Amino acid sequence: MTTTSPDGVTVILGAQWGDEGKGKLSDILAAEADVCARCAGGNNAGHTIVVNDAETGKKMKYAFHTLPSGLVNPKCIAFIGSGLVINPPAMFEELDAIQAQGLDCTGRLFISDRAHLVLGFHQIVDGLKEIELGGSSIGTTKRGIGPAYSGKASRSGLRVHHLYDPSFPEKFRKLVEGRFKRYGHFEYDTEGEIKKYQALAERLKPLIVDGPVFLHKQIQQNKRILVEGANALMLDIDYGTYPYVTSSATSIGGVCTGLGIPPQIIKTVIGVVKAYTTRVGGGPFPTEQLNDIGVHFQEVGAEYGTTTGRRRRCGWLDLVVMKYSTLINGYTSLNLTKLDILDQLKEIKVATKYLLDGKELEGFPADLNVLEKVEVVYETLPGWESDITGCRKFEELPENCKKYVKFIEDFLGVKIQWIGVGPARDSTIRVF
Ligand code: GDP
Ligand code: IMO
Ligand code: MG
Repeated sequence: MTTTSPDGVTVILGAQWGDEGKGKLSDILAAEADVCARCAGGNNAGHTIVVNDAETGKKMKYAFHTLPSGLVNPKCIAFIGSGLVINPPAMFEELDAIQAQGLDCTGRLFISDRAHLVLGFHQIVDGLKEIELGGSSIGTTKRGIGPAYSGKASRSGLRVHHLYDPSFPEKFRKLVEGRFKRYGHFEYDTEGEIKKYQALAERLKPLIVDGPVFLHKQIQQNKRILVEGANALMLDIDYGTYPYVTSSATSIGGVCTGLGIPPQIIKTVIGVVKAYTTRVGGGPFPTEQLNDIGVHFQEVGAEYGTTTGRRRRCGWLDLVVMKYSTLINGYTSLNLTKLDILDQLKEIKVATKYLLDGKELEGFPADLNVLEKVEVVYETLPGWESDITGCRKFEELPENCKKYVKFIEDFLGVKIQWIGVGPARDSTIRVF
């Protein structure tokens, strides 16, 4: 039975279409955490952490994909939960890269035995599926995420513990054969891949734990647990803009299923929301700005993907999306990020309503044909036209900037507790 740690579990979730700055907040909160856990997704995520070393003045930049960003804090241990799909070669490449940057992760990384494996052919199939979709392709990260979760849902997936099962090669071959039947023969060195995974299994072995037991022990020992969400609510398999979504539960529900923890232990849910909106890949985006404003966000906000380097699509903040996201995830507070990117704007627009045939919609439509027809209603707020990157207290922000923050807070009825005014860890305002 779980006895909760004093402050309960803290969860950080992406509130829009991803890349809101979850990694940055995870890094900040990892300073007050013992364990940083990932609960869903895989290396489709890309979390950038920027740290200005106080002593050396050196700027360090880390890119996390499968590993939790909490590893930047040397006192924090990292846990990869059962809900993830892990590609071991890619994960070790990532681990080697951050270790080469000086982060010693020895004895700090633990992986659930129940997590699923992404195998090389999943990545090939990801690409083939996209080709089949043609003009309506999802624009996936081509990391094999969808095919690995499909295998899991169809009960033929291979989990981390299967690596040590004598029947692993046989199971692997069967899966590849199945893919050949479905997609025709593609170039793939099945035997070479089996050997590669078996060799990596040895390196993986000391990191593997019984997922639920491991985490519950941490909880019983009153360890402070921080959950680093990946992807985002609008990419959730059930609540996102289906089918233009990822293949896992990226919402609050995925935290419980992905980690094997009961809901009542979660005390804090922080929604991370960018001061405007971005999206990578295909799919609807009602407030997208295919004009100078969109280009402004791309250029000033450096909106290029951490994982694939793709240019992110950009638009105004959409409070209809945020209301829907808040309803599902139940944010106890928000982190408003990249507010500094709006510094030069004369006017700022915010979507507050969707109208269908002149009538306001109550929620966010499930049917993309309906979504296409909605008229987006905006409120226009005055910009502040000054540099806020040096502000460290809410009071220091210009009046119009405070008004923008308050407008969002009042609309959603959730407190904005953190404000990002630059990429670095210290470019953050904590609002008390
Ligand atoms: P994540 O996937 O949610 O962790 O976000 P990403 O790391 O993919 O993308 C967010 C980008 O914005 C990263 O390059 C961050 O360094 C940067 N960033 C985060 N917060 C801020 C902020 O408040 N201001 C600015 N200018 N950049 C930020
Ligand atoms: P972070 O954690 C932005 C998008 C992809 C694509 C769709 C499906 O960095 O916020 P997938 O490879 O998951 O099958 O792709 O989901 N996507 C993301 N977009 N940030 C992410 O993660 C994303 N993870 C998936 O671009 O449209
Ligand atoms: Mg990202």
